[in-house]
Formats: sequence, C-alpha cells, structure tokens
Amino acid sequence: MCGIVGYIGNRNATDILIDGLTKLEYRGYDSAGVAVFSNSEIKVCKEKGRLLNLCEKLEKDPITGNLGIGHTRWATHGAPSEVNSHPHTSMDGKIAVVHNGIIENFEQLRSMLKEKGCYFKSETDTEVIPHLINMYYEGDIFNAVKKAVAQLEGSFALGVISKDEPDKLIATRKQSPLIVGLGKDENYIASDIPAILSETKDVYLLDDGELAVLTRDGVTLYDSEGNEVTKEIYKVTFSENAAQKEGYDHFMLKEIHEQPRAIADTLRGRLSLDLPVKFDDLDGELIKKFKKIYIVACGTAYHAGLIGKTAIERLAKVPVSVELASEFRYNNPLIDSETLVIAISQSGETADTLAGMRLAKECGAYVLSITNVVGSSVSRESDTTFYTYAGPEISVASTKAYTTQLASLYLFAMFLAENKGTLTDAELSDIKSELYNMPQAIEEALKLEDEVKELSKKIYKEQDIYYLGRGVDYAVAMEASLKLKEISYIHSETYAGGELKHGPIALIEDGTVVIAVSTDKSISAKMDSNIKEVVTRGAYTICFANEETKASHESSHVVVMPNRSSVLAPITSIVPLQLLAYYVAINKGYDIDKPRNLAKSVTVE
Ligand code: F6R
Repeated sequence: MCGIVGYIGNRNATDILIDGLTKLEYRGYDSAGVAVFSNSEIKVCKEKGRLLNLCEKLEKDPITGNLGIGHTRWATHGAPSEVNSHPHTSMDGKIAVVHNGIIENFEQLRSMLKEKGCYFKSETDTEVIPHLINMYYEGDIFNAVKKAVAQLEGSFALGVISKDEPDKLIATRKQSPLIVGLGKDENYIASDIPAILSETKDVYLLDDGELAVLTRDGVTLYDSEGNEVTKEIYKVTFSENAAQKEGYDHFMLKEIHEQPRAIADTLRGRLSLDLPVKFDDLDGELIKKFKKIYIVACGTAYHAGLIGKTAIERLAKVPVSVELASEFRYNNPLIDSETLVIAISQSGETADTLAGMRLAKECGAYVLSITNVVGSSVSRESDTTFYTYAGPEISVASTKAYTTQLASLYLFAMFLAENKGTLTDAELSDIKSELYNMPQAIEEALKLEDEVKELSKKIYKEQDIYYLGRGVDYAVAMEASLKLKEISYIHSETYAGGELKHGPIALIEDGTVVIAVSTDKSISAKMDSNIKEVVTRGAYTICFANEETKASHESSHVVVMPNRSSVLAPITSIVPLQLLAYYVAINKGYDIDKPRNLAKSVTVE
C-alpha cells in the first residue's frame, strides 16, 4: 500500500512528483504530501484526502526545486490526517523521509529516541525513521540511512533527502517494492513503474536490503553492507498508454475489455495445438514427484485458486487444497518436500501470501508463484515463477488479473496432465484447443455488456444480493459477489446451490434478488431446482447460463453466455458478472477504481 515517488534533476521536482503521485493514487489515497529542497531548505506540503487537495494547497503556495520526494498514503499506523501523512521530517527539518511498509519495532525505537530528546508530531511508525537517520548523521546521508535501516524491523521502501546534501536522493527497500528510474541528467525513484513511465523505461529493480544513491548525473547501488553492486537495467516493455485509461471511463472497464488481449498474451508461446504445453522454467520431471498441492492466495486470487483446484484434480488427478493465505500458516499445514505450493498474487507483494510462501519453503516445499509483477517479492522468493501478462492492473477491483490467473492455472493443469499422462491424446487436444480459442470466447462474452447494463438498472437499489452456484460456478459466483460488494457496497453472499435449504433460504422473501450461475450441463437440473426454490419464495432471479443450461425458465431473466466445457467455463462466465458489478456501481455513482477502505496491494498482514 502507499505510493512513493522521488526526483533529482534540473526540472521542477514538484511537478514531476505530482504527476507520479497521480498515477500512483491507486496505491493509497487517504492523504498525500511532498518534500522539496527549495531556497536552501526542505519545504513540506501535505494534505489529508485525495491528491487533489494537495494540488490545491500547492497552487496557493507553490514550492519549486530540483530535488524532492512524494507520497500517497493508505493508513496503517495513525489515522488519515495531515500530520500523519508523509513526508516525515527530523526535528530540525533537515531530513525528510517517505516510507511504504510497517516498522514493527517502532515502539522500542520511539522510546529510545524520546529518551534522547526527540519529540514526535505524528502517531505513525514512520516518524522514527527521520529521527533515527538524524541521530546517525555525521555529514554523510548515505551512511546515516545505512545505519538507521539496520535498526529497523519490518518492511520498508524509503526515499530520503537531506537539506545538507541537496545533490543526493537516497533510496532503499526491504520487503516492499521500490524501483530506480534512469533519465538523462535526472533520475527517479518510485514504488511502482507507472509512476515514472512517462519519464523513462529504464529502471533498476532494487533487491531487499539494497541502497541507491541518486544524483543528477547517475545512480550508484550498494548492498546492505555498503559495498557497491552492479545490476542490469530492466527495460519496461509496456507503454505508458497501458497504464492509462485509453478512453474508457474507468480503469476497471478498460481492464475488463482488455481480457482477450491479456489471455492471449498469457498463453502466447506456452500453448500451441500441436506441441507440449510449456510452463516456462518448470521441469516436467520434477513436477511429477509432488503428491499434494496447496494453492495459497488472498481475495480474488484465492477465488482463482478454487477453480485451479478443480482443473488440476480433474485433469492431472493430484489432490489440491486451496488456502486463504491469511489462515494458511496458522493452521499447521502438512507440508514436506513432496508438497508443491502454488502462491497466486497479482501484485506479488501481498504480505499474507508472502508469509505463507516463506513457511512453505521452511518446511521444504517447492514454491511456484503465479504473479503479474516482474521482479515482485513473490517472484523473487519462490523457486520458480510463472508470469501472467495482464499488464498493469490499476483498478482496485481485480478483473484481468483474475482471468489471466485462471488461464495460468489451466495451463499448469494441462502441463501436469501431459507429464503424468492422465489424459488421452483426444482429451488433451480438445481442452487445449478450447483454451487456445479463449480470447475469442471472451470477446463473445463482452457482447453481453448492453444486456447486463440494462439489468443493472433493475437491481442497483437493492441492499442485499445473493449469488448461487454449484461446482466451478460456485467459485465464479463467489468472485462475482466480491466484485459487487467491493465497488457497489451492496451486501452480498454466495451459497452453494445445495446449501440453500440448510439455512440461507430463510433470507429469501418477496423481491429478494438472487443471481445464479449455471454453466455445467451435468448439474444444471439441480441448479434449476435451487432456482425454483427461491422463485417460489418470491425472489427476482437472474441466471447466467449457456445454450445448454438455459432451460432455467423459472428465472426472471436468463443471460445466455458462450458455451464452454465445464472446467474452462469460469474464464468466460465471470466476464458479464464483472460488467454487472461495474454497472451497478455506476448507477450508484460510486468511485469505481478507488472503492472506499480498499487499496490495490495489501502489503501488511
Ligand atoms: C479484489 C482484489 C483483492 C486481491 C487480494 C490479493 O478485487 O483485488 O481481493 O485479489 O488483495 O491481491 P494480490 O493478488 O495482489 O495478492
């Protein structure tokens, strides 16, 4: 959570910081601030609320200078407020710091610093950092930062500037992402690539513990001991446009429409009709030895895992357990060297998922990660990584990351099935060809947009909406319900069709909205019965079905989706359900891309 940007060069730092923060607002948006070296001092301007509030303040009282750091915050320690927002400074105002992450030992450090005479203005964990750096400062800001971070426990990405050394910007990180952007006579830092993509495509991906010293003329990298290190420049391949809305009203809508492209990119070079499936570096022989698979993830990625389980068990016949990452490590999972753990994370920075992976590795498991962010912590800490090629996902509500995660899990299931010989050639060929043609099937599903938009007008005033499904449709319904609640704030629950009569049916009364997902012909008759049960009690039902399952004539409305075999159906059936959630929230006039209380990447436990 939170976004960081920093600049050193010859242009006005404030403009570049604000531009970068605008692109990073999805990282956190309860307050924002900048610190700029201007007229021989560090001037700080910060404001509670959206970045716009900060911009208005800066318009009234502009700051100009060529060195600065900026931050957009999602509160963890200390409520959202001006005083708690970053940058934080040392008591004399000579050192300013922006920070992402959590300092776990901040209370001990705070007491120690107070004893030495420091006073604290904010309630944040971050404020110990500038005081600590100041305590170690003896004329060399790099050394002071190096000594200070050695005292910090927890996670951090830091940008630091000092009044006494206005020709330097210091950056460092541990368990929180930070990159260094390389320009001509100017350099940048950022927590995420889109922040500086309009300025440069050449970046260094800092590793845990590394420090960077940026000047106008260059960047020097060091390990945590202070030894100089070299690393390759990473060339960003996605365009700045990819990080913008491209004419759509919201990132979420753009990202829903990007799904055919995202799936095609994820499958490219890995799936072809007449060659074995390629799963990047994963060894087909090694993979056969695993007797058990855990999938560990949070939120939407967890929902993708539920569908991955069905695919792996049906195609490759290996038992799979899907675990919420936040629960996994507290449940004494039965892991050994014959266990494969698949960690799924769009951002690659989710703290719970990382913690689960670490535990799995300690217990001897082999960890495969599926992530969308190159160089993310999840990818660095796993034994092998499979990247989804969704491109940057800016909307907080995840859409294209989810469907590319599904495509990756299907590929994995086929790869495993092929290596274990659990499918006949004909079965393998059918399923490969269906996945291969998935981008076109998603295009078909997107054509349901107008129908779904109309439906949204009928249901957006509801207080509660229930979802039903069986098998993989149950998992799709869970994801559809999550999309609805996170952006429209409508209370929503999902039930497995067969569970209704064990309690939830008591909730159904005249006019209650129930959305059913029914794509599997082998169980659609059962689903029809469940729909009938709620219709009889007065529910208004919408059924998302296909040509083979649409017989659910009891429903008030049936949306007919493209036909897919049951195991692959979720990747298309979620699309109109994402659109439904989107249009419901539009009708309510809510902030689609930045829903309240949520942040894109949950880097704290
Ligand atoms: C929902 C959503 C979240 C994330 C979850 C995990 O739309 O985006 O539920 O799926 O926070 O995030 P990652 O995949 O980055 O680990």
